[in-house]
Amino acid sequence: MQPIRNIVILTGAGISAESGLQTFRAADGLWEDHRVEDVATPEAFARDPDLVQAFYDMRREGILAAQPNPAHAALARLDAQWPGELLIVTQNIDDLHERAGARRVLHMHGEGLAAWCTACDSRMPWTGTLRDDPPCPICHAHALRPDIVWFGEMPYRMDEIFAALREADLFVSIGTSGAVYPAAGFVQQARECGAEALELNLERSQGSGWFHESRLGPASAIVPEWVEEMLEGLRSR
Ligand code: APR
Repeated sequence: MQPIRNIVILTGAGISAESGLQTFRAADGLWEDHRVEDVATPEAFARDPDLVQAFYDMRREGILAAQPNPAHAALARLDAQWPGELLIVTQNIDDLHERAGARRVLHMHGEGLAAWCTACDSRMPWTGTLRDDPPCPICHAHALRPDIVWFGEMPYRMDEIFAALREADLFVSIGTSGAVYPAAGFVQQARECGAEALELNLERSQGSGWFHESRLGPASAIVPEWVEEMLEGLRSR
């Protein structure tokens, strides 16, 4: 087998679970006591903007209070030391990959600590609240929303992601249930282009059968182990 050069890593809510951020698909099917359709769709925002803004104000507070865990730290180490192409595609809206030091990170579902002005189309860092409907600092319109990709909206930067998947020798999926497309289809895409596929998750995901290998356990344990293996492999090349 050719040595691995290019890596695409997909992360989901499971990598941040041990940082205290709740995953989406808990047994009760609710996300922080809400049905996803009531808080994470453009229709919900049109119907009840106060509820949706208040919900994301809470998520923002949670993100600010959370700290990266050893899984984020390990991926940041890999990012810093890996000589080939590497891209961390995260479905998460938290900034824990970046706070752990990772640089090659792409947020396909947007960012919790950002706002988007739908009047002037500017995007800006945002750590305060939005439920009080503050004006856009750029155009002064009252048209700010969380810069989050809701259900029914197009994920960000898909061209870049598909380009990276085409070049990948290894695709690694971490802490995601494989329930939400298009991310759930990345493994098939990567394999069609010849990549090896590895899953690191607490339990088998819905698309588990697509992976060459599944390692099961908490991310804070199995991600650092895998990263050490990869870095050890580099040293012995
Ligand atoms: N370590 C590893 N995996 C874990 C851990 C942990 N400590 N805790 C939970 N998991 C696993 C769960 O077993 C589950 O398979 O993480 C996965 C989390 O799945 P989801 O809650 O469905 O989250 P995710 O896959 O990121 O959701 C995808 O759906 O709601 C939308 O836009 C939202 O980005 C989100 C998308």
